Amino acid sequence: MMDAHIINLPKFLDRRGNLSFIEENNHIPFKIERAYWIYDVPGGEARGGHAYKENQEFIVALSGSFDVMLDDGVEQKIFSLNRSYYGLYVPKGLWRCMDNFSTNSLALVLSSTPYTLSDYIYDYEQFKSMKK
Ligand code: TYD
Repeated sequence: MMDAHIINLPKFLDRRGNLSFIEENNHIPFKIERAYWIYDVPGGEARGGHAYKENQEFIVALSGSFDVMLDDGVEQKIFSLNRSYYGLYVPKGLWRCMDNFSTNSLALVLSSTPYTLSDYIYDYEQFKSMKK
């Protein structure tokens, strides 16, 4: 199906507290042009129901948990993220939606492009027809 996959990050376990990190072009397959984060999501809310034409992403649950639903126009896949030492690589051209945010969850998103409204596809039917 889709090329989306979980990527494990380095993890330094230490009695003083654990440490993980991400390097562009090493742990994730693109150059990081932008970082944003989603937080204070009220119970039951969903975010990010859209696709990108070009932008690729890497999504990490820095705190708490949430689900990322991906759809390539044919099949759907749900990834549950709940640890800060791995993340989900999302290639371009997939519909993606995030939901089931736990209280105080924090989603870090690294992106391959600057914010560009024209890169978004907000209409699912348009997305489906572009995939044909
Ligand atoms: P959007 O990506 O549409 O989030 P969602 O799909 O979850 O609703 O972003 C919401 C708003 O935030 C949108 O009006 C534009 C703004 N925004 C930026 O200005 N820069 C960014 O990097 C992102 C991700 C969003």
